[in-house]
Amino acid sequence: MTSAELVRRLEQLSEAARVHLESLMGSWGMLADLSFSDLVCYVPVVAGRPAGGPQPGGPQPGGAGDQQLVFVAVGQMRPTTSQTLFAVDLVGQAADEAGEGVLVREAWGSGQIVVGDCPYSGETAPVRCQCIPVRFEDSIIAVLVRVWSPRTGRRTGGLERVYRRIFERLASMVAAGLFPFHTGVAAVTDTPRVGDGVIVLDENRRVTFASPNAVNALHRMGIVSQIVGSGLEPLEAETHAVSRVFTGRLPVIEEIERRPEGVVAVHCIPLVEADVVVGAVLLLRDVTDLRRRDRLLLSKDAAIREVHHRVKNNLQTISSLLRLQSRRMGAGPGQDALVEAERRVRAIAVVHEVLAREPSAQVPFGEIVPSLVALAGDAVVDATKVAIRVSGDAGDLNADVATPLSLIIAELLQNAVEHAHVGVDSASLLVDLSFRPGPPKLEVEVRDDGIGFPPGFDVDRTSGLGLSIVRDLVRSQLGGSISVANDDGAVVRLVIPTAPDQAAG
Ligand SMILES: Nc1ncnc2c1ncn2[C@@H]1O[C@H](COP(=O)(O)OP(=O)(O)OP(=O)(O)O)[C@@H](O)[C@H]1O
Ligand SMILES: [Mg+2]
Repeated sequence: MTSAELVRRLEQLSEAARVHLESLMGSWGMLADLSFSDLVCYVPVVAGRPAGGPQPGGPQPGGAGDQQLVFVAVGQMRPTTSQTLFAVDLVGQAADEAGEGVLVREAWGSGQIVVGDCPYSGETAPVRCQCIPVRFEDSIIAVLVRVWSPRTGRRTGGLERVYRRIFERLASMVAAGLFPFHTGVAAVTDTPRVGDGVIVLDENRRVTFASPNAVNALHRMGIVSQIVGSGLEPLEAETHAVSRVFTGRLPVIEEIERRPEGVVAVHCIPLVEADVVVGAVLLLRDVTDLRRRDRLLLSKDAAIREVHHRVKNNLQTISSLLRLQSRRMGAGPGQDALVEAERRVRAIAVVHEVLAREPSAQVPFGEIVPSLVALAGDAVVDATKVAIRVSGDAGDLNADVATPLSLIIAELLQNAVEHAHVGVDSASLLVDLSFRPGPPKLEVEVRDDGIGFPPGFDVDRTSGLGLSIVRDLVRSQLGGSISVANDDGAVVRLVIPTAPDQAAG
């Protein structure tokens, strides 16, 4: 069972208490790092019942039923600033009644922080446990245990002493119900951690400590003055994080951007004693490189979009040029050829129009179809009423499938409006364009209710340019097949493989 599941099943806790516990375990990486210790969170359950079983009334500290309580670990956190003592997963395990369990029980019963030594199997010497009762409103809801070994722990220097002092203050806040804060803002992955840089402020907002990484992060923002002993005014000019923390008594997470290139993420946490802010901890992280990479990705996306946009514009220019040229020409086969060429270029341009909007390797073909239908509608010159019905959706297609397919469909629709009603005086024509998507293949059918192909028509031997283009694109570019037939009108069927390895070059 995961830690979150265990907490959810603790029926003795109110919803708000559960949220408190979850948010403690959501932000305790900082506590583990500051204390250079492993942290384990224990909650009491009545012996003999599985964690989360029904517990009418719930266990109360100091209550008569205390003897039957066992303390079960619902969460565990390892420090990133020191080595861990636990190679195993403790979640779901009960505290050892001959070891840390005694101290946990004492902290639970007294509501006070309890420190003591207890035997630990992996160590010859006992390890040290600091048991911190977790208060929520008027009750203790869990016990947070900090475990470390004075023998294997980190050597103590100035930085270690400062971090442990901050931890002690935060531990007192946990015991007083003042930590974690209820901001409703979840810490995001880019949130600075202790290893990224720490600044400590006293109650007068003076800097009493700045870790080497924090100094680097400030340099990144052009703040090079002596920091310890002064205020953070240069930083506060950009952000009012510190003043907001001191007045609002809630933590603030913010990113500060300083020209030319520095971006620093700041997490400012108030240290509270008896409802008064007595200082603050700032975690700082230089996120310049992260943000630069984000921007690069963004600009790459924009560049691709821009390229498609230009391709589309260029195709439009070409089609206008062809139109201009066809107008200069007298009516005849030359002019017809230019008009057709212009239409074909436009059929390709519609694909780039979609790609310019959302650049990706996949094109939602359904967004292209209406443009193709409109293009064919434009080609209707006489009084015939043409209705083009679309059914099915081709789905997302690779750009190198979408472009030829767009040209193919434009050609087939054009043929229907051009040839299907030749020599008949029916006033209307119905064209059906249907898609049956794969994988492994996409089937496309264009069917009309006109006169049908001429007798003996063979798609392999047609001299018409339109169907020749269609045939060649379907076979050589898309690796598919084409068949034509008459069935109360002309029917053209295409089968196009969509599995990537089947499509020819
Ligand atoms: N939907 C259809 N109904 C009836 N006949 C068709 C249909 N589609 C094509 N044809 C016949 O097939 C012939 C070949 O078509 P194709 O598209 O290859 O050439 P075209 O349309 O005549 O010329 P182009 O497409 O180059 O303008 C057409 O001339 C026409 O006789
Ligand atoms: Mg044609």
